[in-house]
Amino acid sequence: MSKGGFDHYMLKEIHEQPEAIRDTVAESLLGPATAGTSSPVGYLPVRDPDAVLLLGCGTSYHAALMGEQILSQLLTVPVTARVASEFQKPAVKAEQGLVVAFSQSGETSDTLTALRRILGQGYASLGVTNVMGSSITRAVDATLYTRAGPEVAVASTKTFLCQLVTLYLLGFHLATDRDAVSIIPQNLQVLPDLVRQVLSRDSAIQQAVRQLTKAEHIFIIGKGLGVPIALEGALKFKEVAYLPTEGYPAGELKHGPFALLGEKTPVIAMVLADEHRSRMITSIKEIKARGSTVIAIADRGDGEVAEFADMVLPVPKTDPLLAPVLHNVVLQLMSYYCARKLGCPIDRPRNLAKSVTVP
Ligand code: AGP
Repeated sequence: MSKGGFDHYMLKEIHEQPEAIRDTVAESLLGPATAGTSSPVGYLPVRDPDAVLLLGCGTSYHAALMGEQILSQLLTVPVTARVASEFQKPAVKAEQGLVVAFSQSGETSDTLTALRRILGQGYASLGVTNVMGSSITRAVDATLYTRAGPEVAVASTKTFLCQLVTLYLLGFHLATDRDAVSIIPQNLQVLPDLVRQVLSRDSAIQQAVRQLTKAEHIFIIGKGLGVPIALEGALKFKEVAYLPTEGYPAGELKHGPFALLGEKTPVIAMVLADEHRSRMITSIKEIKARGSTVIAIADRGDGEVAEFADMVLPVPKTDPLLAPVLHNVVLQLMSYYCARKLGCPIDRPRNLAKSVTVP
């Protein structure tokens, strides 16, 4: 498969995200399983679950963690995310629960094992995968495909964003308060264009990463929906740039990691324009006072963040529920440009395989 003029598959796949999002939205709102029906919930093996369990490994686990927060905001039943490689049994007993297993490849052994453990325990199953006919599709009651197209780079990028899109759509399909979610399809229609805007400004991102390549340790911090995105961003920095990077809840830094702050420990702070914004600004001030450089990712025009952070990478304004997608694209590009500057084998990091088919 060609790199389409890009230096690496990872960068090509990051740039393919607007189309991948568009196609995944079309699949889930208008796709074949719903043809001829007026309701898109035709995809779901259970329409009114009494509990939702989300499973995945690595990046797919971070999608599950996002799902825990997104679906908890939109549904009234318990929603839990679990890392598939540690899963033994569900915390919540269900009579008609829904387990959603996320796997780009559909072949991850740990995810398939976790799925098999839950089947027969009152949970109907939905697989979210990018690969048609993969093992996961044969293990579940129904499949929702991410339409990202082949992902060649070991690091998952476009498939993660598409997994997030399926979560917004699951929330839209499952929510009982229809008014509360009516805006989701419209917001998803404009999302590809917002991602394009982030992609078009990557020269500022290239500038920002200069100081990161010399770091001893990097923190990426967020609150609420920012936490799973911080974990995912840190995984990318470790995976492609080999930089020791931790994703952390901003409020937890003061419970120990403050000891690591200083000149050689820059912090990337994701400031979402939601109820956590002012706490994030407080965290930035606390971090600055301890000598670390802070690169913030925040809404364009947020002057208060610009006042306290050393540098701001702006993203277009959007619904706070969708904004984490844009922050994630910035982090993808940051990790990519760090890896490039450090001369890492970006598409094939050492010791890693695209799909982990062994326990
Ligand atoms: C992330 O960039 C990795 N490729 C890795 O963490 C991956 O997400 C994990 O191995 C799970 O793979 P899957 O989505 O194919 O199940």
